[in-house]
Amino acid sequence: MTSFHDRFTTPVFGSSEEMRISPKTEIPPLGSTEEIAYQIVHDEAMLDGNSRLNMATFVTTYMDDSARKLMMETMDKNMIDKSEYPQTAEIERRCVNIMAKLWNSPEPPYCTGASTIGSSEACMLGGLAALKRWKIRRKAANKPTNQPNFVISSAFQVVWEKFAHYWDVEMRLVPITPERITMEPEEALKLCDENTIMVVPIQGVTLTGLNDNVKKLNDALEILNQKTGWEIPIHVDAATGGFILPFVNPEIEWDFRLKWVLSISTSGHKFGMVYPGLGWIVWKDKKYLPNDMVFNVNYLGSEVGTIAINFSRPGNQVLAQYYQFIRLGFDGYKRIQENILGVCEYIRKEVVKLGFALLSDALPNPLFAWVMKPDPKRLWTLYDLSDKLKSDGWQVPAYTLSADMEDVVVMRVVVRQGTGIDLADLLIDSIKRHMSELDQLQRPTDTYLALQNNQKVADKGFSHKR
Ligand SMILES: Cc1ncc(COP(=O)(O)O)c(C=O)c1O
Repeated sequence: MTSFHDRFTTPVFGSSEEMRISPKTEIPPLGSTEEIAYQIVHDEAMLDGNSRLNMATFVTTYMDDSARKLMMETMDKNMIDKSEYPQTAEIERRCVNIMAKLWNSPEPPYCTGASTIGSSEACMLGGLAALKRWKIRRKAANKPTNQPNFVISSAFQVVWEKFAHYWDVEMRLVPITPERITMEPEEALKLCDENTIMVVPIQGVTLTGLNDNVKKLNDALEILNQKTGWEIPIHVDAATGGFILPFVNPEIEWDFRLKWVLSISTSGHKFGMVYPGLGWIVWKDKKYLPNDMVFNVNYLGSEVGTIAINFSRPGNQVLAQYYQFIRLGFDGYKRIQENILGVCEYIRKEVVKLGFALLSDALPNPLFAWVMKPDPKRLWTLYDLSDKLKSDGWQVPAYTLSADMEDVVVMRVVVRQGTGIDLADLLIDSIKRHMSELDQLQRPTDTYLALQNNQKVADKGFSHKR
């Protein structure tokens, strides 16, 4: 039994806790010192991969020291306590205005939107507003409201499946195929009817990095809406592209410049360059946000309006987003986004030199996917390469595409701020070395045999494929 005196003098690694198995199912009866508790948790977390070498994730893995300091200082602020932290609430409002302006909202200076825990919550809010607006219109016309649907490409991110399940809205899928690898507006329109609450094009499709053509969709919807009176709007899921397009391709019309784009969501914690979790939702105009989605909470003595599914949430990410806007400015964001696209292009060229085929020639976002060309001498798969790369610390996912292309195995890299040409070169070296090892194998690998037999191969724990 350690004496009281020993608790303060025993070195962390001389403590009895170091000789015990950490609690796995029950809270321990007695506590530890903060140093020991820290060391135990810290040491276990060391086994996670190095986030900077995680080429699977879209989420920010680098922020500068001042941003980290600011986030540490403000991590105790609860975003929902708007009357207790009015300045954080004010800064959230400023960020919404800035986002709306970047997306060419007609509403400035004061725009309608909110911060969220990520794109998922933002997508849910955009979808819910569309559902409610549709219901209001249908009820006013004495029409049934029990069979709503929305239209999206089969390369959707899983949040949209959740939206469909949680709120009982039918999800209608436009298949992507090798010939039509983004959502084809004509095909999307074929799935629309009077019960369609919205069409959801994606800017930065998770599986491929490509952009659905929002302008073409908008123009096609304009004709359909004119003809039918259905008033089908667009919610743009710009989880990735929302922070790329305004800086890199400001001339492309995908945002509020288009008539039927009524809401846009993005992830501040992806290319907004803030650590997780932060998302943004903006409506084109206050009138597109149904009143009953704004909750007036009487909190600590004053009425505060909130638009959120979640309640308590850290306020420091919002402050960090504002910090990034001030620190980087438009020019800084543009330079970083152009650099990461440049690094991505560099990796693409190297990958092509290694004999792989790109899924697409376009590179609108800093991520891309590639496939293996058929080669009878190669008895291995991208799953094997992905496994091998892990031994060097690189996390590069291999996965199959969505319905209608689910026999296509791809490998994908996402390039974020913090990956320069040097790191890219190290990744390429690692790919080359492991390819040459795999090429020397005398017999087919298990995943090769499984794919030959049309069997599904497990996705090896990468959660970001969708
Ligand atoms: C297109 C798209 N939509 C939504 C999401 C969900 O984003 P978040 O992780 O910010 O909730 C993602 C995440 O990768 C995505 O790629």
